[in-house]
Amino acid sequence: MKIIFYEKNADIDAWLGGFRHELPGADVRVWEPGDTAPADYAIVWRAPRELFANRPDLKAVFNLGAGADAILDVERKEPGTLPPNAKLVRLEDTGMAQQMVEYASYCVLRYMRRFDDYEALQREGRWEKLPQHARAFTVGVLGLGVLGGEVAKGLLNLGVPVRGYSRSPKTIEGVQVYAGPEQFDAFLHGVKVLINLLPHTPDTEGILDARVFGKLVHGAYLVNVARGPHLVDDDLLAALDRGQIAAATLDVFRTEPLPQDHPYWTHPHVSVTPHISAETLREESIVQIPDKIKALARGEPIGGIVDFTSADTERQRIADNKRQA
Ligand code: GLV
Repeated sequence: MKIIFYEKNADIDAWLGGFRHELPGADVRVWEPGDTAPADYAIVWRAPRELFANRPDLKAVFNLGAGADAILDVERKEPGTLPPNAKLVRLEDTGMAQQMVEYASYCVLRYMRRFDDYEALQREGRWEKLPQHARAFTVGVLGLGVLGGEVAKGLLNLGVPVRGYSRSPKTIEGVQVYAGPEQFDAFLHGVKVLINLLPHTPDTEGILDARVFGKLVHGAYLVNVARGPHLVDDDLLAALDRGQIAAATLDVFRTEPLPQDHPYWTHPHVSVTPHISAETLREESIVQIPDKIKALARGEPIGGIVDFTSADTERQRIADNKRQA
């Protein structure tokens, strides 16, 4: 069994050592540009198009993260790049959900108890008690997948009303769930903290815009831990100016690292973190991926397979446009 691995910033020796240990007998190598030798499986994070092209032998591509958008993007830009029979598999949890729950809980508490305002007062040396926010500090979790579902559940521990939105109906005890585009506005109405955990697809690109901000409670908070392109940056800056959005915590950006001259760096009501809300944990991934490879080799079903539907629709759209042009 031949496996190629690509993750530019990883501790390569630790990853390769781990996979070799879990899959004795497998030939695991780091993919370098120009490597077109056969491979059964690819384990990648933000790999270039060239890695996937002309590899009909590939049985599965494992994405070293929760969001597989970078791979879907390769396919969207050049349909037919991914081998048609290869499964695309994303990581399932591997410790990421707990990290997301921590990040989201911190943001909700920070805004609910006004720690952000007290930090600003401290900088001015001012001892001043601010009125508390209303207890009904409704949190809306956008996206109820593996991570979003756990975040919604975890936030219930804070005693705040939690609601969630997903494309298809879900049931989570204690969480008020809205599903499908026709319930989107009802979901937004009354939300004080909006936490985005949607997958990035052509349908969700730019979803966090002026229209959405206008539906939230005036002075709402935004937390984006999904992908930068979900957010229309100019709309957020304008909403912050108007006070429609009181503050935002952003972990992901259209360009990463966030360019040095970006207004978010110095905005008094924007908190920036460098895409760390939920990091891929090596120990867990080194077990999960080989377990799935072994299951596939035995012909058993595995979890975490990415639904290609939206990519397929997009592929069709691109093909139609090309035909019409
Ligand atoms: C990180 O952004 C991930 O998708 O896992």
